[in-house]
Amino acid sequence: MNRVTYFLALETSCDETAAAVFTDELQVLSSVVASQTDLHARFGGVVPEIASRAHLRSLLPVVDDALTRANIGLRDIGCVAVHNTPGLVGALLVGVSAAKALAFGLGIPLIAVNHVVSHIFACRLAAGRDIFPCVGLVVSGGHTALFRCDTALSLELLGGTRDDAAGEAFDKVAAILGLGFPGGPAVEREAAAGNPKAHDFPRSFIDDGRLEFSFSGLKTAVMYACHGQDVKRAAPPGPGQKRADLAASFQSAVVDVLAMKCKQALRKTGLTRLAVGGGVSANKPLRAALEAMCKKEGAELFIPPLSLCTDNAAMAALAVEKWKLGEFAPDDLDAEPNWL
Ligand code: KG4
Ligand code: ZN
Repeated sequence: MNRVTYFLALETSCDETAAAVFTDELQVLSSVVASQTDLHARFGGVVPEIASRAHLRSLLPVVDDALTRANIGLRDIGCVAVHNTPGLVGALLVGVSAAKALAFGLGIPLIAVNHVVSHIFACRLAAGRDIFPCVGLVVSGGHTALFRCDTALSLELLGGTRDDAAGEAFDKVAAILGLGFPGGPAVEREAAAGNPKAHDFPRSFIDDGRLEFSFSGLKTAVMYACHGQDVKRAAPPGPGQKRADLAASFQSAVVDVLAMKCKQALRKTGLTRLAVGGGVSANKPLRAALEAMCKKEGAELFIPPLSLCTDNAAMAALAVEKWKLGEFAPDDLDAEPNWL
């Protein structure tokens, strides 16, 4: 009888220190995420050096916690996986160095996984069945991109953002509105009381067929709608209808664009499955819009539960696909901040 292989995966690409234990049959035994949000909040964004240092402090306790929750010891691990790209280079290096040391020390293979591709694999993990081929949309703080995914590992980029990522736009608009960091959940909460039709914000490329995104003009439009021309001396608006309307109108513009581009990608590729991942896919109005669009298009929507949308190490179970193919990382594996 074949013995089960246990994987330990590490994620340190940005501001979440995470470890997970899963099996070669994609059973997730534990997934631990230590968020650094409190450390970065007063700066209004992730400070790379602070992130790296926090990863250094948190990683081993997080690994211990993941092993304890999975009820196994380090010696039971048969393979180490790590997100080595893309991300903040100093932050990635912490995970990559730890993963290399663990693999070397335990004499077991190491597998390098792309964080963006893992966000799509989170859909496969959550579905518990095959989801390929599909259109993949990754909407996170650093990326907004559409892919044709023939398998978990063979992806073709259909288009990405020309400037800000969708999550970055949420974070910047949250800063303009004085809603704090991280911006996405704060804008979503604020938008709940607002009128999404109060402002007619731009929806870049919505009526043209190219599968590209642009969110920086939208962010600037929110800034002018908020402060008028006098942006230099602008203080964030206080709580009230004006702020809620700005948040709701902004969110509605992002949601409209993302849903439309997914629809165009489905039609262009002729595929009938859509898999969506990344922090922004936690947004409830976006999830509802994608559900409605897929229903109309006769497509199947795969979107993970919230815990698998934002950064985590369980989605690195993509490593199992590489393990089956014998795609192991070299001993001199490096952190790669850029993904293309
Ligand atoms: O995937 P993720 O956790 O990290 C990256 O790989 O970037 O995504 C983080 C991004 C942040 O920009 C955050 O504001 C956004 O996802 N986000 C949201 C929501 N939750 C997180 N954006 C909109 N609505 C949300 N509920
Ligand atoms: Zn991410």
